[in-house]
Amino acid sequence: MTSRIIIAIDGYSSTGKSTFAKAIASVLGYVYIDTGAMYRAVALLALRGGCVSGDNAVDETALRRLLVGGGPVDISFRTSGPGGRSETWLDGENVEKEIRTMEISRIVSHVAALPFVRGYVDRRLREIGSGKGVVMDGRDIGTAVFPDAEIKIFMTARPEVRARRRYEEMSARGHSVSYEEILGNLSERDYIDTHRETAPLRMAGDAVLLDNSDMSIEDQIQWFKDLLKQRHLCGY
Ligand code: DC
Repeated sequence: MTSRIIIAIDGYSSTGKSTFAKAIASVLGYVYIDTGAMYRAVALLALRGGCVSGDNAVDETALRRLLVGGGPVDISFRTSGPGGRSETWLDGENVEKEIRTMEISRIVSHVAALPFVRGYVDRRLREIGSGKGVVMDGRDIGTAVFPDAEIKIFMTARPEVRARRRYEEMSARGHSVSYEEILGNLSERDYIDTHRETAPLRMAGDAVLLDNSDMSIEDQIQWFKDLLKQRHLCGY
């Protein structure tokens, strides 16, 4: 085995980034890092700390104090259980379930647009990724966090396909939410994620586009293996 690399996967919300990223991490024996989970944990911190008002406006001063004011908050990933699922921890508490609610989805893009939040998360991600051998998914991994990542993939899918997938995922988890509400939330997040000033979502010049609207996960894994072959990276 040659030296291990960083694989950056960016793209719109609910394009199946995490399913794809987990699958290729397991093909390569790499660690998978869900960077959106880190922003979701900060959003939970903001919500619990009373930093979010009714119209989803974030009190920046109060959140800054909570996140970095009194010695930085600890957000980390730990693997537990027989399947080795990675879960998100916030200051010693497993918050994996709490960060996946619609309430968090509504505020997370607002929180993620704040430069000091991005600075905090970027530092943590670089610490985690510096050992290489990681697959990270997010919105700015190939453009801002690891601009030198050896492989960059940008994922997209038709909006109605994305909303249907997210609807099925949330219904399976027992959340009662309508398809229309999810579609609305996705387009609002797309807008905020692509228009924010700091590290907006965009495709890196050296990224490869993957539109998986009509692809199964097996198709996507095959697509990835072909990409490795083309790049002469099969030994990784
Ligand atoms: O992938 P997700 O839906 O869990 O991400 C939650 C939010 O976090 C998303 O709306 C945008 C933000 N995010 C980001 O700005 N940068 C990242 N690298 C990952 C997520």
